[in-house]
Amino acid sequence: MANKKVKKEIADRVNRLKKTINHHRYLYHVLDKQEISDAALDSLKHELKLLEDAHPDLITSDSPTQRVGGEPAAGFKKVRHVMPMLSLEDIFEESEFIDWLQRVQKLLGGGKIPTLFVENKFDGLALSLVYRNGILERAATRGNGLVGEDITQNARTIEAIPLKLEIHKDPSPRILKKLSAVLRDGSLEIRGEILIDQKEFKRINREQEERGEAVYANPRNLAAGSVRQLNPKIAASRKLTFSAYDLVGDVGQKRHSEEHEILFALGFKSDSEAKICVNEAQVFEARKNVEKRREYLGYGIDGLVVTVDENLLFEGLGVAGKAPRGAVAFKFPPLEATTTVKDIIVQVGRTGALTPVALLQPVNIGGVVVGRATLHNEDEINRLGVKIGDTVIVGRAGDVIPDIKKVLTDLRNGRERAFRMPKSCPVCKGEIKKDKDGVMRRCINKKCSARSLRSIYYFVSRQGFDIKGLGPKIIKALFDARLIQDAADLFELKEGDLTPLERFAEKSAENLIRAIVAKKEVELAIFIQSLGILHVGAETAEDLASRFQSFEKLREATVEDLGRVPNIGTVVAKSIFSWLQDAHNKDFLRKLLRHVSIKYKKVERSKKLSGKVFVLTGTLAALSRDEAKKRIRELSGDISESVSRKTTFVVAGEEPGSKLAHAKELGVQILSEKDFLKLLLK
Ligand code: IVH
Repeated sequence: MANKKVKKEIADRVNRLKKTINHHRYLYHVLDKQEISDAALDSLKHELKLLEDAHPDLITSDSPTQRVGGEPAAGFKKVRHVMPMLSLEDIFEESEFIDWLQRVQKLLGGGKIPTLFVENKFDGLALSLVYRNGILERAATRGNGLVGEDITQNARTIEAIPLKLEIHKDPSPRILKKLSAVLRDGSLEIRGEILIDQKEFKRINREQEERGEAVYANPRNLAAGSVRQLNPKIAASRKLTFSAYDLVGDVGQKRHSEEHEILFALGFKSDSEAKICVNEAQVFEARKNVEKRREYLGYGIDGLVVTVDENLLFEGLGVAGKAPRGAVAFKFPPLEATTTVKDIIVQVGRTGALTPVALLQPVNIGGVVVGRATLHNEDEINRLGVKIGDTVIVGRAGDVIPDIKKVLTDLRNGRERAFRMPKSCPVCKGEIKKDKDGVMRRCINKKCSARSLRSIYYFVSRQGFDIKGLGPKIIKALFDARLIQDAADLFELKEGDLTPLERFAEKSAENLIRAIVAKKEVELAIFIQSLGILHVGAETAEDLASRFQSFEKLREATVEDLGRVPNIGTVVAKSIFSWLQDAHNKDFLRKLLRHVSIKYKKVERSKKLSGKVFVLTGTLAALSRDEAKKRIRELSGDISESVSRKTTFVVAGEEPGSKLAHAKELGVQILSEKDFLKLLLK
């Protein structure tokens, strides 16, 4: 019966998922090793949960969905927490937050929204610090929430953790009295997160690599690996830090926000950006703000923790499972997910390069539905070992094209198919040649339609002629209608050619022609770049333009002449030379130059900011960070990512980060955005 077969397949999948998840959980929680990211593991758990929800008879007590936490590893003394270290419920969507808030309100008996405390959710390692009579007695990891590991010796090496509690700043008189009493005679537990700076993370990984040792997958991993070193000297060498977020014990505090003040008064670092919010709109705004600045924070955060601020209300809400009802982890969208490879196709680029692309079962990654991922080249396919039908981890970083991070081979069912690169061009069926360095295969037919199309896309793109309103769809339509065969043909288009095309209104035809005509005069460097010559990007095009100053001179150059241009080596010189000598390209240029006039404007690089080192922090209103950097470079200034004595200026935008404080400490001159813009214009 077909039904039975389907059921067996589902049971099979469930079993494989369980095994895989358990394997990764063990690596992560017990051995501090991580082979796949949290987001990828979450994605697998999610699939398992959905299958189990639909088929409850498949749930077993050992399923990863049925337990929270992990076993502590041998090697460190195990310690029982005085109060369990709970976890938080994860949510990702605004709608889930509204649901949580409504649930809380209802449980609190209707009425108005309780005051909320919103702080960063640090992506480090949870730590419990027990102080007796004000002296650090014990530091323990979270472990499974009930029993953790005693890592006191290592924690003592972290300078952000006070060995003795002192009151650095007076809290309110009511608190001061009780707090002083507890510090004299009593115990207090402080919880927080061990963190490692992103820069320190990179430095250590570089060293690991040089020594031929394994690199750490992420800062959390490194922090965990460091405090679980049996030799405290190693932990000490790693510049770990600690940020406190919870005070367990009664010193008269009534609110979670007050606890943060007390932690600060006691000399702990805590989230300096934490704030009170009184409705969901404020929480959403706070979340958007941090998400924007996330990469500049210097340490990893993976979302916000939102807590009912008033402790009595928080306690009253109680605990559901392992998480308090009065708090949630409002996480940022994960930038990885798991999905399956439905097929692998091959795309042909403008230089003939054949790029294998995986067609995926569409999956939502951080709010964007991803249906394809680049596989780069044959070497990458071999490195990953990916087959059609595989379950894979797909990652997406900012605007970068999604790519496959890993194949989950444990989930194979035997029906996966290996992929072979084609022996001829998949589009024109022409000959393929492998590059001399052996990585890329290319279609060598210059008339291949895929190559022509891609060349036209590139020609009109922002890097090239930047013709507005001429996107890939329109180009494809013009190309298919045989109205254009190369970019030169664009300049011969008439309005009447366009209007018969589907959905092309008269008005837009007129606009498009106007946009094309407007670009007939073009800067030499841009013209060179638009040709799409292999190895010639913006910088090389600029170098060529300032050396030859006219296209005619460039065309007459020999390989040797080209090789003498600064920054141009033999490979690039040969590539340019052979492109210009090619008969097909010569025809194209002849056609193109009938319409386009090239001008050369000498750009004398100003030396105004030469020798000056800039560090940018915070958000600028008038220009993006990249634009600001470009402007500094244009004036021969230098940019550095960190503040040191060598820094000339720190440019501080809105909501600057720790770099500003550091600059003040070192006495580095600080420029407001206004000062900075003035300096650029002066
Ligand atoms: S409050 C009642 N606040 O997130 C739960 N946790 O699932 C107490 N974390 O591993 C946690 N930053 O170590 C809280 N500002 C923050 C946090 C935070 C990171 C971690 C915590 C735990 C996990 C909670």
